[in-house]
Amino acid sequence: MPIGTDVERAAQLLAGGEVVAFPTETVYGLGADATKDAAVAKIFAIKGRPRAHPLIVHVAPEARLDDWAIDIPAPARALAAAAWPGPLTLILRAGPRVSRVTTGGGDTVGLRVPSNPTAIALLRRFGGGVAAPSANRFGAVSPTTALHVLADLGDAIGYILDGGPCAVGVESTIVDYSRGAPVLLRPGGMPREAIEAITGPLAAADAAAPAAPGTLASHYAPRAQVIAVAPDEVPAAVAAARTSAQRVAVLAPGSAFAAWGELGARAHPLPDDTAGMARELYAALRDLDALEVDVVIAALPPAVGLGEAVGDRLLRAAGPRKEPP
Ligand code: TXA
Ligand code: MG
Repeated sequence: MPIGTDVERAAQLLAGGEVVAFPTETVYGLGADATKDAAVAKIFAIKGRPRAHPLIVHVAPEARLDDWAIDIPAPARALAAAAWPGPLTLILRAGPRVSRVTTGGGDTVGLRVPSNPTAIALLRRFGGGVAAPSANRFGAVSPTTALHVLADLGDAIGYILDGGPCAVGVESTIVDYSRGAPVLLRPGGMPREAIEAITGPLAAADAAAPAAPGTLASHYAPRAQVIAVAPDEVPAAVAAARTSAQRVAVLAPGSAFAAWGELGARAHPLPDDTAGMARELYAALRDLDALEVDVVIAALPPAVGLGEAVGDRLLRAAGPRKEPP
């Protein structure tokens, strides 16, 4: 499987209707020309993703929002101007050139301008919109390095563009502007506080909000069973897991371990700051799978800054494995 840093080659594959993996600041994406039905359909086939689940369209910083969306509310334009390039996706009413395979058959589109320099170089060279979900099989942990992509999908894709490890490490924050007041559909790499400083309070997703796989109860899940608890509940959770004689690991900020003393579990320390936790979270879950750990006891961070996204992903990794139909 070819893996390399050839932006030109990746852009030509996209132009030819092929699928390529590429880096963004959040996670690696599996991209195809967002205007071509057949190209985008390949993404769904490779990922094993249900066709009704829409894909985010990635565009270069110079792209015109009006080429991709219609009826764009002024506050959405203001947020885009303040946040892009960066880890924020806006849901808007889709323009006519967006493939309805990209939108999952619906009339809205997720748009974002990534800040990763390799992603920007690719989008400029390609010149269009690149539809891309995270470059992992449906439901699994998102890739934050080119080697993660290789391990998951290496046999299925034409080229992996390597841009090094992702700087943010969790997926973009998704804000829905397609139904009036802005709604937070998924916490992510742009902290809620930073968005609300621009938009005012974001509403929570309700029953009328669009269904999105990243918002299913179980997603982002490693092979090991994840149990997400408050930090002071970690020792009891470890003790309970150990009674069934399983291999148990603890995923928590490095400074937390001193207070717990000897836990009798493999310690996997994360950085103490929430940005560091977000950056290392998915690689840590992959490492623990590689060690064939059975149970991961994960300490939930406070839901401030990137802690909201980290906690969200840990709870979804811990969710029931059976997906709704
Ligand atoms: O950071 C990210 O967002 C990464 C990188 C590659 O950009 N992409 C990503 O894609 O996480 P994916 O497909 O794994 O998750 C995108 C989420 C899904 O939950 C999808 O349903 C939702 O965005 N989404 C996309 N378009 C939508 C739309 N038109 N309406 C509602 N939700 C949408
Ligand atoms: Mg995903």
